[in-house]
Amino acid sequence: MRKGILSLTAAASLLTFGLAACGNDGGTTAAPEGAASASGDAGAKAAGKVGVILPDSKSSARWETADRKYLEEAFKSAGIAYDIQNAQGDKTQFQTIADQMITNGATVLMIANLDSGTGKAVLDKAKSQGVATIDYDRLTLGGGAAYYVSFDNTKVGTLQGEGLVKCLTDKKADKPIIAELNGSPTDNNATLFKNGYDGVLKPKYDSKEYVKGPDQSVPDWDNAQAGTIFEQMLTEQPKIAGVLAANDGLGNAAITVLKKQKLNGKVPVTGQDATVQGLQNILAGDQCMTVYKAIKKEADAASQLAIALAKGEKPAATGSVKDTESNADVPAVLLDPQAIYLDNVKDVVADGYVTKDELCTGEFADKCTEAGIQ
Ligand code: BGC
Repeated sequence: MRKGILSLTAAASLLTFGLAACGNDGGTTAAPEGAASASGDAGAKAAGKVGVILPDSKSSARWETADRKYLEEAFKSAGIAYDIQNAQGDKTQFQTIADQMITNGATVLMIANLDSGTGKAVLDKAKSQGVATIDYDRLTLGGGAAYYVSFDNTKVGTLQGEGLVKCLTDKKADKPIIAELNGSPTDNNATLFKNGYDGVLKPKYDSKEYVKGPDQSVPDWDNAQAGTIFEQMLTEQPKIAGVLAANDGLGNAAITVLKKQKLNGKVPVTGQDATVQGLQNILAGDQCMTVYKAIKKEADAASQLAIALAKGEKPAATGSVKDTESNADVPAVLLDPQAIYLDNVKDVVADGYVTKDELCTGEFADKCTEAGIQ
């Protein structure tokens, strides 16, 4: 009898959590199997609920195609209640979603912020309600999240800089003029990526081996604006000979502009995220490289922390990062990124991140075979 009542209460609270989530686009909610009975066991602590807020679905394909999928899988297999929402680039919506999650009983909140200001407001609110916090992929400056899970983002940038150098060397480029298309100025990762690639490129500018050309940030990583920005860059400086684009979406925007001038394939372009589009641009010879970040590992590391926190445990992080605004050391898990060129596109497929079916469509079938993609 007692067990029955407890189970019902647990089920009802899971239901409340689920119902609230249904009102938002892009939400996924699940009540785990077995959660109600677990909370019914005498002495056993009811596991909490995890809320995840993703930033948008346009700045990179990864958030909806990879992060959501892998996080869902992890929470499902752990039998933890979860709610994954996407703020679709809207900062007000981001805060509304966070408020709803907290009201509906989230005990852990994991966010990939749209900027540090609204991210901090969300983290402050969560902390004031006793909700555990995790910064996912993007560090909220001054935010004071309990944990941060990401990749070594400076290294991502270093790989991009080295990639551009390799591709320019292969082309025997002489004093190439370099354009830089940076990520969103509100994303701390964009700063870290730039630190990484400028660390490689600046010595080349200083030694006059390369010529520094236009260098601009793309607000909100907006791919359409990136096209407009790059079009202007190329109009003003038609001799651009290399493009450091901070992710595959920005890279594709530059490639689209280069195509109009028949410069695609001649001017190497970098990227990041190993998206299907980025990998196809590499297969086509229009993009020189991308950076593969095994999102499954990132989602697994973050969900492991979230699950432990939801169970009331105090998980350990493997390292820490410095919050450059508060100067605090944030306990962190940072994973290793990998550079991808034509000769190892197959690694991304072998890792299960993209499938041969989605990559090797139409004109890419033969190119896949040539690239050894099984
Ligand atoms: C992520 C990248 C992504 C970019 C745009 C960054 O914070 O680390 O993987 O391409 O945001 O969404």
